[in-house]
Amino acid sequence: MAGTIAVSIWRGRADGSYQTFAVPQRESQTVLDVVTWVQRHADPTLSYRFACRVGMCGSCAMTVNGRPRWTCRTHISKVVEDGKLEIGPLANLPVIKDLACDMQAFFEKWQKAKGAFTPSKSRSDPIERISPATAPRQAADAGIECINCAVCFSACDTVRWNDEYLGPAALNRAWTLVNDVRDAGNRDRLSAVAANGGCHACHSHQSCQEHCPKALNPTASIAGLKRRTMQAYIRGEL
Ligand code: SF4
Ligand code: SF4
Ligand code: FES
Repeated sequence: MAGTIAVSIWRGRADGSYQTFAVPQRESQTVLDVVTWVQRHADPTLSYRFACRVGMCGSCAMTVNGRPRWTCRTHISKVVEDGKLEIGPLANLPVIKDLACDMQAFFEKWQKAKGAFTPSKSRSDPIERISPATAPRQAADAGIECINCAVCFSACDTVRWNDEYLGPAALNRAWTLVNDVRDAGNRDRLSAVAANGGCHACHSHQSCQEHCPKALNPTASIAGLKRRTMQAYIRGEL
């Protein structure tokens, strides 16, 4: 494969602009390969994040031709349009520099949604057997493979309009814990996700599910939280 691609990359902070580079085209080249080529061969001051390069760490997400994606698993052959590629930082997060966003709000919302496991047992208790065939475990397993990439957060219109909205990833995480029978934090967690900016702010338009690179369905998790918080409310638990 020969030739070059015209790659426009965001430079600077929110008031920055796109800068175009001619990048040699290679076989099986990913968007992350393109960004790395620019940093190594054209401009060493280009800032971006990555770690694993194999779709596990969630750190490499960027906006590619207008759509949020994991760049290490996105081949340019799937996304180049008319020999051009536009690569920007994720939307809905402040830009630190170039392609690197400030992820603080994203992770603080995980904390706000009580996305940390609350143990119900101590280390001296016997290890509990959890059958993978039970309905709660299957509901938890359906959302467990999240890699915290923030692609869904960047794709969500409600996040864009509503600063308080916890967002699809944090709520998906909360749903996995609501269904984890070993967890003891559900009263606080259900209160947190039922509050302003919680699950009831979601409009169910499924942009998160459409963009998630791990094929998760945060919309379904959020629908589960809506049902569960309503049940808790009717029972007087909230
Ligand atoms: S379904 Fe809900 S969380 Fe998903 S993108 Fe739409 S508003 Fe956001
Ligand atoms: S739910 Fe999917 S898109 Fe959202 S952070 Fe997790 S892996 Fe990324
Ligand atoms: S570099 Fe780890 S998911 Fe892309």
